[in-house]
Amino acid sequence: MDIVVTVNGRPRDASGIAAHTTALDWLRSLGLTGAKEGCAEGECGACAVLLATPDSDGGTEWTAVNACLMPAAALDGQEVVTAEGLGTPEHMHPVQAALAEAGGSQCGYCTPGFACSMAAEFYRARASRGTSDGADAAASVRTSADGGNGAAAGASDAHTTEPFDLHALSGNLCRCTGYRPIRDAALGIDTTPAVGDALAERRTRPAPAARATRLAGDGGRFVRPETLDEALALLHVEPDAIAIAGCTDWGVEANLRGRRAPLAIAIDRLDELRGFDEDDAGIDLGAALTLTEVERRLAGRVPLLAALFPQFASPLIRNRATLGGNLGTASPIGDAPPALLALEARLVLASPDGEREVDLADYFTGYRETVRRPGELIRTIRIPRPTANLTAFHKVAKRRYDDISSVAVAFAIDLDEERGTVASARIGLGGVAATPIRARATEAALVGREWTDETVREAASVLGGEGTPMDDHRASAAYRSAMLERSLLRLHRRSAREGVPA
Ligand SMILES: Cc1cc2nc3c(=O)[nH]c(=O)nc-3n(C[C@H](O)[C@H](O)[C@H](O)COP(=O)(O)OP(=O)(O)OC[C@H]3O[C@@H](n4cnc5c(N)ncnc54)[C@H](O)[C@@H]3O)c2cc1C
Ligand code: FES
Ligand code: FES
Repeated sequence: MDIVVTVNGRPRDASGIAAHTTALDWLRSLGLTGAKEGCAEGECGACAVLLATPDSDGGTEWTAVNACLMPAAALDGQEVVTAEGLGTPEHMHPVQAALAEAGGSQCGYCTPGFACSMAAEFYRARASRGTSDGADAAASVRTSADGGNGAAAGASDAHTTEPFDLHALSGNLCRCTGYRPIRDAALGIDTTPAVGDALAERRTRPAPAARATRLAGDGGRFVRPETLDEALALLHVEPDAIAIAGCTDWGVEANLRGRRAPLAIAIDRLDELRGFDEDDAGIDLGAALTLTEVERRLAGRVPLLAALFPQFASPLIRNRATLGGNLGTASPIGDAPPALLALEARLVLASPDGEREVDLADYFTGYRETVRRPGELIRTIRIPRPTANLTAFHKVAKRRYDDISSVAVAFAIDLDEERGTVASARIGLGGVAATPIRARATEAALVGREWTDETVREAASVLGGEGTPMDDHRASAAYRSAMLERSLLRLHRRSAREGVPA
């Protein structure tokens, strides 16, 4: 079966590739060598390209992704734009011109990746950005320093430009420039595309639909099934197959550890795994929605998740990573489990025998082990309502952004404001045991008590003793325990500062 990908507006045949060939290797084999391999594990963004993905209005969004983690076969029927497709030296794209003018490129290794991440941000928010002749539109900016709340640099009303969010570049590393010129370039861009900008116009038409794909060769196969039933049937008959969604975990396994599955089954575009339903009783999140999609659709309505998302990897990773994948790997340092434990989430698991629902608190059974049976997939993550009135997600890592947790603590505490007592408390922990856990002893030490310094100090010392933290290269056991303890004190200070609850 032919595998065809539209690259920079031109159909390219990818039929000869192996199932594990990455999009990056395939694009480079076409001579499109702008995208580079810096790390092959999603850390540096040198491989970033733009992928046409569906937006919420039936149009297309240009989404920046790490080509090093995506199998090329997953692009069958899709549209990709590389740095070469943005512009040429004679006719540079505005983001390329901005980088060149600001001195944002020295050795140039990172530059095509930065250009693609910048272009994704340039084309973001079709609905609120028009096109202009570029005569007098000025950029407005949103800096990481102001928390993304919009420090305007120049008039922008005339063209309804949205701010350029510097977080869009947080998955791109540069070893030469010191970032200042890159930042200047980003903040200097007029974010209103000019009339006739082909990529801006492309956004008004639907993104390519998922295409059923079958590829065999070089010892492995890749299948994109059309339905969940088809995927489940395949997993049932081929227990060694791997289901892949965003491939941000599996891609690292394949690239750095050389792991190969006899069959990879792409589940990221299955409609049954991409639902989003919300009512007074709760919210159902499709397991294959990307974190970026979930964040946008929730639009802050679950503050605990709104606090989690910006601390989870980088936009490049979040544009592909899914909650299903984060729960599927069952890593003890995954960031979603503590938050979802605090939210008392339930999982809908699907298999050829039907569906069952399990409490997330009962899901993890051991180090990277769960109650999920072979061939079973997480279809939906179910979050009950109402959610607690005081929530927080504290991630302790070596870097503020784009790092793996040493410890993660998620709080969902309901304060009875009239009585000043704790009505209920749910605390999810990551990084302090073989699995993500609930801090049950701490919860018991809080519930029914007054939300005072004394209660919180006592409960914090209980929290410091939760789990069985260990020493490893990220942190010592003692540090992890200390961070747990401080976390509750920090939450209490915040609630005192901002009012109870905030
Ligand atoms: C640079 C980088 C930074 C990262 N930073 C973080 C971070 O800050 N916090 C964090 O928690 N993680 C982080 N990760 C890990 C990873 O991004 C997440 O675990 C992500 O949620 C995985 O989702 P995915 O869709 O890409 O999973 P995939 O790689 O597609 O799949 C991972 C596993 O889950 C299984 N799976 C996928 N979907 C389902 C499903 N619906 N049902 C059952 N099983 C399923 C797959 O079979 C596979 O075993 C990072 C990864 C990288 C490369
Ligand atoms: S090569 Fe570093 S993120 Fe892809
Ligand atoms: S310009 Fe050299 S790595 Fe960025």
